Amino acid sequence: MQQSRENWGSKIGFILAAAGSAIGLGNIWRFPYVLGENGGAAFLFVYLICIGVIGLPVLIGEILIGRTGKRDPVGSFKALTKSKFWPYIGGMGIAAGFMILSFYAIVAGWSFGYIIEAIKGTFLEYSTPDEAANHFYLLISEVHWIIIMFVIFMIITMLFVYFGVQKGIERGSKIMMPALFILLIIVMIKGITMEGSGAGLEFLLKPDWSKISATVVLLALGQAFFTLSLGMGAMLTYGSYMSEKDNIPTSALQILVLDTLIAVIAGVAIFTAVFSTGLNPGEGAGLIFHTLPVVFSKMVGGYLFSIIFFILLSIAALTSTISLMEVITAYFVDELNWKRHSAVIVFGTVTIIFGIPSALSFNVLSDFKIFGLTIFGLMEYLTANIMLPLGGMLIAIFIAYVWGFDKAVIELKKGAEKLFEKSAWQITSWKFVLKYLAPVLIFIVLLQSVGLLDEISNLFK
Ligand code: TRP
Repeated sequence: MQQSRENWGSKIGFILAAAGSAIGLGNIWRFPYVLGENGGAAFLFVYLICIGVIGLPVLIGEILIGRTGKRDPVGSFKALTKSKFWPYIGGMGIAAGFMILSFYAIVAGWSFGYIIEAIKGTFLEYSTPDEAANHFYLLISEVHWIIIMFVIFMIITMLFVYFGVQKGIERGSKIMMPALFILLIIVMIKGITMEGSGAGLEFLLKPDWSKISATVVLLALGQAFFTLSLGMGAMLTYGSYMSEKDNIPTSALQILVLDTLIAVIAGVAIFTAVFSTGLNPGEGAGLIFHTLPVVFSKMVGGYLFSIIFFILLSIAALTSTISLMEVITAYFVDELNWKRHSAVIVFGTVTIIFGIPSALSFNVLSDFKIFGLTIFGLMEYLTANIMLPLGGMLIAIFIAYVWGFDKAVIELKKGAEKLFEKSAWQITSWKFVLKYLAPVLIFIVLLQSVGLLDEISNLFK
């Protein structure tokens, strides 16, 4: 079985695909909007710490479990432990992937729809962000627009996964990344040169420490997991296609640096524009759709740029939705012996049906709230802020206490012999984070998020 498993076509294949999974709407849509709502620079600071201190070690661990287990999340846990409990954690990841895909593809659909808006030249007519915002609200209030774009995006995703790992994913990732990078830099430069952009830079770079609260830490941690595609088995699944010759720590670091760089560039591009046009940074989930069109309308060549930008954003989103769909598919193929093609068709369709209530959260069901959140908001909150950190905590616990570092480190060194030749501090700190820091910190943050921390601290008063 292991022999017949597909491998990445080239060494760079894994990095491209994993970076393609990580880089997406999480960086360009979600990061700015969550940061804007939660204190700017202070949020950025906490977020960077979460990425570096917790994200990197857990990312390495998740990829390692996949490469060693050589299967989907459920199967990889089965391969590494006899315990009946851990495969269920893989199962939770698959459920999380399904939930994420169902709301993520909706926003991806907006991006896709904005390609059409850009071609129509809609943006050139804007002179104020209010007009852009109104147009955005008009579009998402139309049930057929939001659903059609969502369904088209899901079908494109299904087509790629249907045709398999190498052809679909690698080819997609290779073209998109450099182009998106360059375009974001151009948009950022435009943002910085706009009048009054300094306030935006200040918002991003000058922390107001009083803004840091337990909620900010939770959201920053959730965003760190979300943007790295971490905690639900996507990186595990991609790792399962890696070979023993590949260097996991170095690849993980490269992915993380690229991902963070893109988020920060997107942040600068958005907030310089937000402040120079007098927009509210806490606009919420529509933030980039209110901001970027105005930037394009003020740019030389903005018509063309806006089209290319939304095409690239859609491709970035596509490499992420592919990775989400890939996890679900790998599970049904590896564990339940489904045909790849049937798994894609059945679960793509189920995701579409499951996602419709989230799509309706912006129009028909906008007043329907659970815990004060729309269905879309609830899906986003549950997955990003609870399920992914929980998954990450369990991955750390699994490696440290169940699989055991003795075995894990032998696997980790494969392909990375040179890295650990002279010193072992990397391994020591990796162990420390997985054994103590990540489980404890994530546990505290999660307790807080469900309101239990307050109760516990009351007990001691
Ligand atoms: N990381 C992607 C982004 O930032 C989204 C994504 C893809 C994801 N696969 C995931 C998030 C798995 C969490 C888990 O756009």
